[in-house]
Amino acid sequence: MRRAIALGVGLALLGLLLPGSLAFKENEFKKCAQTSFCSRNRNVQQGANFEIVPASVTLNTATLTATLMNKQASKHLQLTLTAHADGFVRLLIDELPSVGRYQVPSDILVSGWETRKAAIKEESRSANGVVLVTGDTKLELNYAPFTLAVSVKGVPALQLNSRNLFNFEHRRPKQDSDPAGYWEETWMGHTDTKPKGPEAMSLDLVFPGFSHVYGIPERATSLSLKATNGNAPYGEPYRLYNLDVFEYLDDHPFGLYGSIPVMLAHKKGLTVGVYWNNAAEMFVDVVKGRDVGTQWIAESGVVDLFVFTGATGPAVLASYAKVAGTTALPQLFSLGYHQCRWNYKDEADVKAVDGGFDAHEIPYDVLWLDIEHTNGKRYLTWDSSLFPNPVAMQEDVASRGRKMVTIVDPHVKRDSSYYIFSEAESAGHYVKNKHGSDFDGWCWPGQSSYLDVTSPVVRNWWAQQFTTDKYQGSTKHLYIWNDMNEPSVFNGPEITMHKDNLHYGNVEHRDNHNLFGVYYHMGTADGLKLRGSQVDPENGDRPFVLSRAFFSGTQRVGPIWTGDNAAQWSHLKVSVPMLLTLGLTGLPYSGADVGGFFGNPDAELMTRWYQLGIYYPFFRGHAHLETQRREPWLFGPDVTARIRAAIRGRYALLPHIYTLFRAANTTGQPILRPLWFEFPEQEDLYAEEEEFMVGSSMLVKPVTAPSTFTVDVTFPQGSRWYDATTGAPVPPKTKTQRVEVNLNGIPVYYRGGSVVPRRERPRRSTAAQLADPYTLVVAADDKGEAEGQLYVDDGRSFAFQRGLYLHRDFKFSGNKLTSTKHVEPGVPDGTLTVPTTIERVVFLGLPAAKKGYKAVISDGVSGAKHTVALEAGPLSMAAAPDSTQALVLRKPDLPVSHDWTVEIVQV
Ligand code: NOJ
Repeated sequence: MRRAIALGVGLALLGLLLPGSLAFKENEFKKCAQTSFCSRNRNVQQGANFEIVPASVTLNTATLTATLMNKQASKHLQLTLTAHADGFVRLLIDELPSVGRYQVPSDILVSGWETRKAAIKEESRSANGVVLVTGDTKLELNYAPFTLAVSVKGVPALQLNSRNLFNFEHRRPKQDSDPAGYWEETWMGHTDTKPKGPEAMSLDLVFPGFSHVYGIPERATSLSLKATNGNAPYGEPYRLYNLDVFEYLDDHPFGLYGSIPVMLAHKKGLTVGVYWNNAAEMFVDVVKGRDVGTQWIAESGVVDLFVFTGATGPAVLASYAKVAGTTALPQLFSLGYHQCRWNYKDEADVKAVDGGFDAHEIPYDVLWLDIEHTNGKRYLTWDSSLFPNPVAMQEDVASRGRKMVTIVDPHVKRDSSYYIFSEAESAGHYVKNKHGSDFDGWCWPGQSSYLDVTSPVVRNWWAQQFTTDKYQGSTKHLYIWNDMNEPSVFNGPEITMHKDNLHYGNVEHRDNHNLFGVYYHMGTADGLKLRGSQVDPENGDRPFVLSRAFFSGTQRVGPIWTGDNAAQWSHLKVSVPMLLTLGLTGLPYSGADVGGFFGNPDAELMTRWYQLGIYYPFFRGHAHLETQRREPWLFGPDVTARIRAAIRGRYALLPHIYTLFRAANTTGQPILRPLWFEFPEQEDLYAEEEEFMVGSSMLVKPVTAPSTFTVDVTFPQGSRWYDATTGAPVPPKTKTQRVEVNLNGIPVYYRGGSVVPRRERPRRSTAAQLADPYTLVVAADDKGEAEGQLYVDDGRSFAFQRGLYLHRDFKFSGNKLTSTKHVEPGVPDGTLTVPTTIERVVFLGLPAAKKGYKAVISDGVSGAKHTVALEAGPLSMAAAPDSTQALVLRKPDLPVSHDWTVEIVQV
């Protein structure tokens, strides 16, 4: 067992010992050429073997069915093409007759969409094909060879099998002449027996006339995906196979801890998206020329392809959200700052760190405990010498409005005196090896078994372990971190589970590997929901569980982080395209470890990372066991002051961020957005991956290199921009402008046309902000107009689902700012009122309006009017008091909950 632990720790530490050792990592993980199903399909043109049997083509309102024949093998497949009312078509291809190939269980997606179908009209039919129309989408199905072309509003969107790379390996009996790799494959001493033989599929998807595709996380690479094939920057396809990749490299195609088989393609006038609902190992090649060609090869399962035809980025994401669900609305505390390290050693350490934040007047919300807090890595227990009074410790932290998080990993120490192990063992809750006995692998605790969370029964049992009576030493202030849930198995092939392991329903791990993480995450979150329903039977408590592994649907469960990055500038930089990609694939609640997990950041890197990190939807500082301590006040007073200012900036922005999360929750929109998403017509922005938007109203340009005194900022055209520190308008010169920077901050701008709600009083945590009044920043566009929203609820329970929330629309037009109720179709009306007021309104960009104006305020309920002076002043309370770039309305006492109008008139 010692050896096992040593091996595990050794693996995790290797990154420290061998910084940037590319060779080592590459050897540990499989490439396409070393993987039978990938190498036998990559670039292999067998698509012409597939033909539709014309007589089989049947159209039935919203669904076309046909038999697809593999001429060469004389095998038949069933093809089903269905148009759905939520803006997509779904293509299913499976063997005929069915041989029971694996399909992703329905609980990975949401329900409802299956029955909301859209009619398909047959436009024409010939001996060699049929042309169908549904809404704005045209589907041209060619019989021989089998191809499908999709266009939207007459613009070519997608072609299937136009490069002749489609393939579907049917099940077959074993033959002596079968090539190596069909029935068995060995990698680094691990033999994968393949009882079902070869069953891969290849999808050939061309995006005609596009130059940019995005998505298929997770990897540390560019936002606009680089080519992988032929004469390409990457000679290796992108891989989707959840793995524990210790100290990953940036700028690399290999897949990390999570997978979402979603890709978006964007060109002027059209955005299209695809989702292959398949949880097996997958490789995706990207070829760039006049079009973007992609080849997707999956090891097993069926073809279950969704094509989102909504035509714009927001519409594609809204449609995907109808299928995979939206981001669960997080608790407000979880959007504050999280302080983590491997490990906060004991109760005294916790107290000191918690006190350090107050002593240095830096807000934070959550203190985290990594694996060393447990009794020998037996999760849900405590090391009683280090944490003798965990309840008192949590209550103490909670007395200042804060929370704690403990880590709970999916490997269970094989120790019959450990209650979790023995209960799960006797109930038969573990994943089985190929022989049918409990799988025994190595992880942090040594010999471990793994809960078979793909079973609803096991998830239900797991959820029950989180009530405060079951999880001894826990309180309602404690939330959970799920790590290592790819799953990580230190002595397994590629540090994960064997593909011939067996799950609930006799499913091979090969088929559902990429689901393990989301199911574990789901079971844990269900546990916190259950606990919440006991603590507050009426309203419950929204779970907060951070996960490392993920799949489609994870957004409904909780946030993820990008795993073990490094304290290097390149990792700070790549965090932006990584998080933007997650937002574009429906998983916006994500963050990267601020400071970098491995290694020791210097003061400058630390500063710049906080200045960027405050915009991460999930904002946590974390560090490896062997690193030097790096709480925000350990780098000297100047650095502390800068980090304090940055973190306070995050807290000031929380009303805006929380409002964006509401939109993510209702319509699947990302929090951080690439510039092309907001400015889809500006082609020079399609590959921009350093700058990003926070919602649609703020532009951020991180500083990603040391000793930087100037940066080039690209200001998308068609909008005015205002410096978010001073309020100064950006002179409308060139699109890209060189901007001076100092260590105090990074360039951030308000977009003209936006109203951004803020809370500017420095507080120790989100709980302490609850009664604080708001500031509205009104940044006028060229027409002197602006709009924005504010969403408010109790920040913690499910009461918002019953309408206990407040959602306001702010509109500024014709010198009038109004607040009205926000109404959203399909969402219950908000009925909450709060006593909070708006204490400042700051107008940016009003024409020479600094003097001689006043504001007439009309109460929308009583109709009463009163007048308040308008004066030139600073943009924010934290800005220099002599700054006069803004027109400030002080103490207007505008009620947040009611209608009102502020009219600017000349004195
Ligand atoms: C790996 C995780 O990625 C890291 O964040 C954590 O600190 C270690 N496991 C120890 O639990």
